[in-house]
Amino acid sequence: MSSLKQILKDFEIYLQNYNTSLMQSFHPHFENAFWEMVKNGGKRFRPSLMFSVILAKNKTCIKDSFIIALALESLHTYSLIHDDLPAMDNAALRRNHKTMHLKYDETTAILAGDALNTYAFYLIANSSFSPKIKIKLIKSLGFGGMKMLLGQACDCYFENIKLNKEKLDFIHLNKTAKLIASSLEMGAIIAKLPKKERKQIYEFGILLGIFFQIRDDLLDTMESSKVGKTTNNDINKNSYVNLLGKKKALYAKNKIKEKILKELYNIDKGIARNLKDLLKDYLQKGF
Ligand code: IPE
Ligand code: IPE
Ligand code: MG
Ligand code: MG
Ligand code: MG
Repeated sequence: MSSLKQILKDFEIYLQNYNTSLMQSFHPHFENAFWEMVKNGGKRFRPSLMFSVILAKNKTCIKDSFIIALALESLHTYSLIHDDLPAMDNAALRRNHKTMHLKYDETTAILAGDALNTYAFYLIANSSFSPKIKIKLIKSLGFGGMKMLLGQACDCYFENIKLNKEKLDFIHLNKTAKLIASSLEMGAIIAKLPKKERKQIYEFGILLGIFFQIRDDLLDTMESSKVGKTTNNDINKNSYVNLLGKKKALYAKNKIKEKILKELYNIDKGIARNLKDLLKDYLQKGF
């Protein structure tokens, strides 16, 4: 029986070998740039969430869902490439590598990001699922992606302008939590869970996503080499650490962690088991 760990290993092999010749041309580096940051890795958190649901509820679909996980990771990676641009967070390091606009140039980074965004939906269209499931998947990823951009727009516009906690929570909910919730929802769509359970799993994802971004705000106070991305970069941002201070940010994170642990008892046992396994490292003490 496949474990989540084994599925992630297989998915990584699938991703590393994925044929991106669609982007071949006489451009000296665009094909590489297009797929490079996807290959550079990261935690693959969103695919893992999707697999957690499918493994528990319809594991015969795991292999067919790899292309959907790739779509999720493509869209997420595009958001990171653009997030690092000088016009946004102006970061130099991502996934332990030079950011795309520094390795190549801004034009390449913008266009590689744009291409990954479009590619995500192309991949879903090319999957083997029924038209009905494909449409639901496109809707879920499209919604998560749009809300991510709404959150990013607010995050960037209000740099240097201190917001209240309610508005900060709106930003976190949109820029991060909704795509994380969509990742779980996409697993629930593939596993054909009833609407009520899909909604429940989505709401769990929202909680988890807010936790994830508060944790990320705390990670920004760590050394860059430990996190693999530029840190101490939120100085002018509305972040949990800046708004509440580190101590209260940690407290807020732990409060949500308690809610997550409680909620895990209310969702499907098989899914909860996989999520507990996946979230072990995230839910440990400290950050
Ligand atoms: C970083 O996401 C951006 C946020 C939403 C906080 P991840 O922390 O999932 O980044 P990778 O995929 O591991 O690089
Ligand atoms: C970005 O939040 C969330 C995205 C939608 C990419 P951050 O700007 O805090 O993410 P990092 O810290 O650069 O990964
Ligand atoms: Mg940002
Ligand atoms: Mg950033
Ligand atoms: Mg951050």
